[in-house]
Amino acid sequence: MVDIEGRINGCWIPKVDFYYLRPMIKEFIRKYGDKYPEGFLDDRKLFLKVGSYLAKMEYFQIYHYLDFMGEEDDIYYGYYKELKKHFDIDCNILDVASGYIPAFGDIVAKHQIHLPNAKGTIAVCDPVLIFDESKNANMKLIKDKFHPGYDLSSYDLITGIMPCTVTRDIITAACEQDKDFFIGLCTCTPKDYYSIDDKTYMDENIEFARKICSRFDRKLDLCDLDAKYNINSPVIYSKKR
Ligand SMILES: C[S@@+](CC[C@H](N)C(=O)[O-])C[C@H]1O[C@@H](n2cnc3c(N)ncnc32)[C@H](O)[C@@H]1O
Repeated sequence: MVDIEGRINGCWIPKVDFYYLRPMIKEFIRKYGDKYPEGFLDDRKLFLKVGSYLAKMEYFQIYHYLDFMGEEDDIYYGYYKELKKHFDIDCNILDVASGYIPAFGDIVAKHQIHLPNAKGTIAVCDPVLIFDESKNANMKLIKDKFHPGYDLSSYDLITGIMPCTVTRDIITAACEQDKDFFIGLCTCTPKDYYSIDDKTYMDENIEFARKICSRFDRKLDLCDLDAKYNINSPVIYSKKR
């Protein structure tokens, strides 16, 4: 199906000339390939998924870094728009499980800095971050593992975009330390997961969030990203008491 702007559903059109895409991907792999598990980055696969919303998140991080996507087409901008609808971003944010390349953090940092009297910062936390220094003055890189007892005292809002196995740790830490949270859930299922009543792991994560929020007398809300990004999992968010 084609939308009113002529876009094919589930697709985005790269803003970089087709001719340069593969050489740019190859150059990225030459520079940073050794920061990923062996064989994880394949220039042919990365090239073939350009323009599709069905690529893996690690690929989107690279397309974001190489500036292939117009802002509106960028999945991470989709999450940013949703975040901005529900929270004031002029605060100190911790983005957990930010990925090899903190694409969401990058978008948030760039928008925070353009706010009038900007004072907001974002720290991104993931043990696999490939860079040592941030290119945004208000963004800090933390190459570390998050855990439920992680000290959140210097943050106001905790975010996580498809944080897989750390989803529950973020919810627990945010509720126990009375912080706002915003999590774009993923549909990933742990290897040993088994459900007796056909519930998905994502449904169980929502239930988990509901229970903890209610224990701390907090409201849990759900929202969806713009349908064009083809994300089949909601965002859950909750504000501190
Ligand atoms: C599906 S990726 C999502 C990455 C990124 N948020 C994105 O949307 O592109 C999940 C990430 O969780 C990270 N991760 C797993 N356990 C973690 C932990 N304990 N603390 C921080 N990050 C963790 C992984 O390294 C991986 O980068």
